[in-house]
Amino acid sequence: MKSAIRLFFFLSVYVIMFSSCEDDGVEYVEAKEGYALSAGTSTIYSSTSHAYDTEAPWVTGTTFTRFNRGDQLYDDGPTENSGLGPVYAGYSCGSCHHNTGSTTPAMWTSKEGSGVAGMTTALVYISRKNGKFFQNYGRVLHDQSIYGVKPEGKFKAEKHYEDFTFPDGEPYQLCYFTYEITEWYADSIAPEDLFITVRTPLRHVGMGQMMALDPKEIEALAAKSNYPEYGISGRCNYITERGKYQLGLSGNKAQHADLTVELGFSSDMGYTSSRFPEEICEGQTQMNEGAMMGLSYNELEVTTEDMEDVDLYMQALGVPARRNVNDPTVKRGEQMFYKAKCHLCHVTTLHTRPGGSTLLNGTRLPWLGNQTIHPYSDYLLHDMGSEIMGVGLNDNYVSGLARGNEWRTTPLWGIGLQKVVNGHTYFLHDGRARNLTEAIMWHGGEGEASKNIFKKMSKSDRDALLAFLNSL
Ligand code: HEC
Ligand code: HEC
Repeated sequence: MKSAIRLFFFLSVYVIMFSSCEDDGVEYVEAKEGYALSAGTSTIYSSTSHAYDTEAPWVTGTTFTRFNRGDQLYDDGPTENSGLGPVYAGYSCGSCHHNTGSTTPAMWTSKEGSGVAGMTTALVYISRKNGKFFQNYGRVLHDQSIYGVKPEGKFKAEKHYEDFTFPDGEPYQLCYFTYEITEWYADSIAPEDLFITVRTPLRHVGMGQMMALDPKEIEALAAKSNYPEYGISGRCNYITERGKYQLGLSGNKAQHADLTVELGFSSDMGYTSSRFPEEICEGQTQMNEGAMMGLSYNELEVTTEDMEDVDLYMQALGVPARRNVNDPTVKRGEQMFYKAKCHLCHVTTLHTRPGGSTLLNGTRLPWLGNQTIHPYSDYLLHDMGSEIMGVGLNDNYVSGLARGNEWRTTPLWGIGLQKVVNGHTYFLHDGRARNLTEAIMWHGGEGEASKNIFKKMSKSDRDALLAFLNSL
């Protein structure tokens, strides 16, 4: 039955061409009435709350068995011998990435910004003002803990609002956060010595495709990504991971080369593994006290096989097809997207390498190879400026080559389904934007010219552009 349906899709494939001037326009394959392929053979047709966490059509047999195992580890962590904590930021991958999306940021669900039951559902990066980490707290604030152990501190966010108007008179408002940490478990850190920056979880749309990208295509894009007339010039991030200097792709500053399974288990959740054998709170006074009482926190808690299954799970997820592609407003909105030059950073079409991707432990996923994909990102860093409300999109935090004001273009595929999958429309690296309009209006620096074109459009053109984004 399933293969009959697939044959039907195959037979009904035909190509629609949108505007063909210069590089304006994507050649979409409309796979069935109103839907277009987003990621070749990994495209799925779902617009439900499971649109991000459904397997790609090629996931069958043993791959499916491993997919399900990865799914369970992702949602619950290893069930036997739970190695969670003793301190942690989230109790499982899925606690922050609900339905492999982005769990509602706590800054918006609670008055104090610390979330229901204190869960921030974000990563709170902390350091001294001089960039050094605190011996007792490390790089990430762990505001959760297992029974009998104290969380490292309590996180609070304060909101700051300002009202603006579009030239056509439509009002909009922007909001940004400032943060505070109280109730430190040990030495209190003076606010003057504390630097805080916050990241809300990224959606897992197209993780396998991102890992199967050809670094040469991205590097060529960086060489080409230079549009002085719009002030745009993207560049690559490079980092050394597992002893190899390589192109960064994942994370808000493209600061990682892989899907951070090992790092996530270690730094976010407190599990130890062969790559990160030390507990994250190693050296904390309460760890030393535990050790004196004969408690050992140092057994390896997730195996490489476990982590490869989680890696496989994320890379084998299907990418939701584009919807409503023939809707006249959506089509007009797409033209507006090009008119506002959004596509110079949110690059519409890329390709995966012939061999597909290779997982953490060496397993290959050939199905991800040789695909034409529409991620709406160049995976490059752009200076997003510091003009707006005196803060802009600058967190003064350096990650690899990325400076404080530089961010990776967020892939927009699947963005229109975030409301259905996660129940909210908070966007940008720290979740400060409450809707798509606010997300666009925060674009500064290299995004300034593009933002201004959007700003000067008529309300109906802006709305059409938003309708287009919601079709992704
Ligand atoms: C405490 C919340 C939290 C937990 C728990 C968590 N993440 Fe994340 N995740 C985030 C945040 C926040 C980001 C963005 C980080 C950044 O850009 O600095 C992120 C980013 C990612 C990305 C990058 C996606 C992209 O588009 O580049 C991947 C992949 C990922 N997480 C996988 C995992 C896995 C696997 C686990 C479990 C082992 C996990 N995460 C656990 C919060 C979390
Ligand atoms: C100079 C490159 C550049 C241009 C031009 C650009 N963007 Fe972006 N866009 C980015 C970067 C980088 C981010 C991530 C910023 C952050 O999270 O702080 C982003 C984030 C976004 C987001 C939020 C995504 C999310 O999930 O959080 C949306 C929506 C968006 N852009 C839409 C647009 C639209 C629409 C246009 C055209 C009007 C546009 N962008 C033009 C680089 C660009």
